[in-house]
Parts: sequence; C-alpha cells; structure tokens
Amino acid sequence: ATDLKGRHFLKETDFTAEEFHSLVELAAELKAARQTGVEEQRLLGRHIALIFEKTSTRTRCAFEVAAGDQGGRTTFLDPASSQIGHKESVKDTARVLGRMFDAIEYRGHGQDIVEELAAHAGVPVYNGLSDEWHPTQMLADVLTMSEHTAKSLEHVTLAYLGDARYNMGNSYLITGALLGMDVRIVAPEELWPAPEVIADARRLAAASGAKVKLTEDVAEGVKGADFVATDVWVSMGEPKEVWDARIALLGPYAVTMDVLRATGNPAVKFLHCLPAFHDLETSVAREIHERHGLTSLEVTDEVFESPHSVVFDQAENRMHTIKAVMVATLAG
Ligand code: CP
Ligand code: NVA
Repeated sequence: ATDLKGRHFLKETDFTAEEFHSLVELAAELKAARQTGVEEQRLLGRHIALIFEKTSTRTRCAFEVAAGDQGGRTTFLDPASSQIGHKESVKDTARVLGRMFDAIEYRGHGQDIVEELAAHAGVPVYNGLSDEWHPTQMLADVLTMSEHTAKSLEHVTLAYLGDARYNMGNSYLITGALLGMDVRIVAPEELWPAPEVIADARRLAAASGAKVKLTEDVAEGVKGADFVATDVWVSMGEPKEVWDARIALLGPYAVTMDVLRATGNPAVKFLHCLPAFHDLETSVAREIHERHGLTSLEVTDEVFESPHSVVFDQAENRMHTIKAVMVATLAG
C-alpha cells in the first residue's frame, strides 16, 4: 500500500498518479465508513493548525469536521488574530507551529509562502489554496467525477471554461495531465495558464497518456466532454478594477445550457469549486449585475440548478478528501 506519512501536499505533482488515486480511494472508504457509522478514529490526540489569509467556507469546515470525526483537534488562525506575515516571518511561524502541531493547513497568496512554511515546519503542510494551486480541491473533484461516471478516469474528458491563469485552471490542467485524462482549457489565450504550467502539463501527459488541449473555441473545447467545469472570473485577492475587462473577455465562456448541449453528451455533469458568483449579494456583485445587465456570470442559474450540476457533491467531498489527506499523512 502507498505510505504517505509525513508528506506535504502543496501542489498536485507532490504526488504520483498512483498516490493521488490512493488518496481518492481512501476518501471513498472514509465516506462510506462515516455513512454507515463505522468510522475508526485515527487522528486521536492530533492537533492541526488552520491558517487562513483569505476567507473560506468549505475548506475550513472540511478540515474542522474531518479532524473532529477522526478525534483530532483544530486551531483556526485568521490574519487578524495571528502575527504571521506582519509581526513574524513565515519561517519563524513555521518553526513555532511545528513544535506544537502535528500538521498545518495554510491558505494564502503566493505559492512561495506555503512552500516556505513547509520547508521550516517539520510537520506536514497542506495548501488550502494559493494563487497558483488548489490541490485539495482536485482530490474532491476527482472523487466527484469518479462518483458520476462509469468510465475510468483515463477515459474521461474534462473541459474547464473561464479564467485559466489562476489556481483552478492551473490545477485542472495539471491534474488532468497527471491522471491521464482528456483535459481541455477553454478560454481566451490571454487567460491561459502560464507557459511553464502548459509545458509541465505536456510533459506529464507524455508520461500518462493524457490529452491536453488549449483552445479559444468553446464548441471545439467542450465537444464530447463528460464534465464541464468553471470558476469565478475574478478570484480572491484580485482588485475590483479587473472585473470589467474580465467580463468582456469571458462573456462567451459562461457555462449556459447551450454550452452543455454543445458537448453532445446528454449525461454531461457541471462542476464548480464554489463559491459561485451567481447569487452573491455583495455590493460589488450588485454593481456588476446592474452595470452589465447580467444575472449570472460564469454559470447560469439554469445550469447551476439543473440535474447536470454536481457542485454540492463536490462541496461535500472536500470533507472526505481532506480527511483522507490528514489520515494518510499523519496516521499513515
Ligand atoms: N472551494 C473552496 O475552496 O471553497 P472555500 O473558499 O469556501 O473554502
Ligand atoms: N479561484 C477562486 C477559487 C476559490 C475556491 C479564488 O481563488 O478565489
């Protein structure tokens, strides 16, 4: 069996395809055990620090509930209530928390920060989302895909539409390439992943047999897709000023019923890591909705609420997969 004890999870390629699959399988087992009331507690007496420099609903709750189910304890630190980054360096924070905790989750901005934390913590560090990657989300999405298709993953086609030069686009491209999928990035070229990320994906695809396609053409990009995924067009930490340009660029890439029909697959499923922009009540959202006369941006309500949509399975699976990460890296 794969032993992941003591390992970090900072980006998808920290694991081989086999290790990645073993985590998804462990998550499925833990999910079934929880549902049948036979979950064994393997994190008794373990303490996990949860550092969030950006907001979260799913990731934080997934770590807290998963640790609780397993008999572990969490400590939540937000930027306002800790010294990290302003009164104390990341390196010193890592060395302090590493003396007290068995593992550290970190959600922040640049990937370099979570990498630095991992370099000095002496305990497993989990990336709960950086600007560049969202690796724990990928485990949940792969588990969700496996639950919603009879195909093995190497026969699955995944099309990601929208802003692809950020965490979700990068992560889908690399995960699809790592696991041997037919993965398509469907976006205007200026929002494609960085050239290094595309090169890494092509290198991984050569080893895994994955197909990697980047295209600006929606019809070509979604043809034959089993899963169509998207994400918000403007991410946490980006300035509000980018909205207008982003809307102008991404308008044709919104996931509508026409896009789902263009797959030619009546059983196509829709993925979104959430939160979605479509039902936001913030002033920015209201202003954008009014200015552009749009009720939805990256996905229409019709798609989001349709039987194609598996977004709440994805959300639930964050918990089971994050539990698998903690169990595998702490209990072995
Ligand atoms: N999908 C996801 O990471 O959600 P949160 O931002 O709510 O954690
Ligand atoms: N791209 C989004 C994902 C949120 C889970 C963001 O970074 O805000």
